[in-house]
Amino acid sequence: MDVAQEYIKDVEKIAPCPEVALDVLSIAHEADCSIARLAEKIEQDPGLTANMLQMANSAYFGHMKKITSVRDIIVRLGLETVKIIAITSASVGLLKSPQEAYALGRGELWRHSFAVATLAHIIARYARARDVSAIYTAALLHDVGKVVLDRPLQLESYNRGPGDQETMVAVERRLLHTDHAEVGMALLEKWGLPEAISVPVGLHHEPDQPRAKRLGVKVVHLANELVHLTEYDTEKSKDFFFDVLAYEDRKADFPEVPNFESNMRLIIEEFVDKYHDSVAVFEL
Ligand SMILES: [Fe+2]
Ligand SMILES: [Fe+2]
Repeated sequence: MDVAQEYIKDVEKIAPCPEVALDVLSIAHEADCSIARLAEKIEQDPGLTANMLQMANSAYFGHMKKITSVRDIIVRLGLETVKIIAITSASVGLLKSPQEAYALGRGELWRHSFAVATLAHIIARYARARDVSAIYTAALLHDVGKVVLDRPLQLESYNRGPGDQETMVAVERRLLHTDHAEVGMALLEKWGLPEAISVPVGLHHEPDQPRAKRLGVKVVHLANELVHLTEYDTEKSKDFFFDVLAYEDRKADFPEVPNFESNMRLIIEEFVDKYHDSVAVFEL
């Protein structure tokens, strides 16, 4: 983990996470999360407040009456939904930048992360996970290490060819002696986020580790793999195509998550609907 620590040392410069956003993430994940404190913190940031109101008034959350204050959002939508909106708003700025070393244009990592988080949230609910919002956050931030490693990788002037067989994780390990999962975990630990979030991030490419038996790790890993089996992020196409045949083919490599297989059709349908509804709101 020492190498990973090196890369996050100057992270404030590379990947600035606004203090308010970070506080929102921490408060939302406290065991006794206080509504008043959460609302107060969100209101300190006009941009975050505007963002939350826009999200809360969207079709995504299915409300007819206009919501005009952060407290309103909390009262009407409930704490769990508010946490999800707050976490999402707090992460947009961090994940939207382009990651050239990964051939990711502006917004691409954000779209991918949001898709994985949306799907992980639904899978976690079906699996009756205890802390659904921690799994959501872990899924949303699973690739945050790419934001940190983009610059160091560019300095290695590595260019990925179209027919390249080497995985990105292998490239990172070869050139930087760490990878984006490890660095992501170190960053989230530095931010003081709980293990329920940092561990799934750290192990999302290493499902064979003993600690990967945790439900959160399995769900994030599965959601990431499934999103890769959909074609939502190809070019500008907003149409989803879930490749069931590819899933059947690769199923043996995926972690077993309670109630997933028997509800797969429903889960994917809900995911596609939610993703479609949120395209405008989250500027996907
Ligand atoms: Fe990843
Ligand atoms: Fe990913």
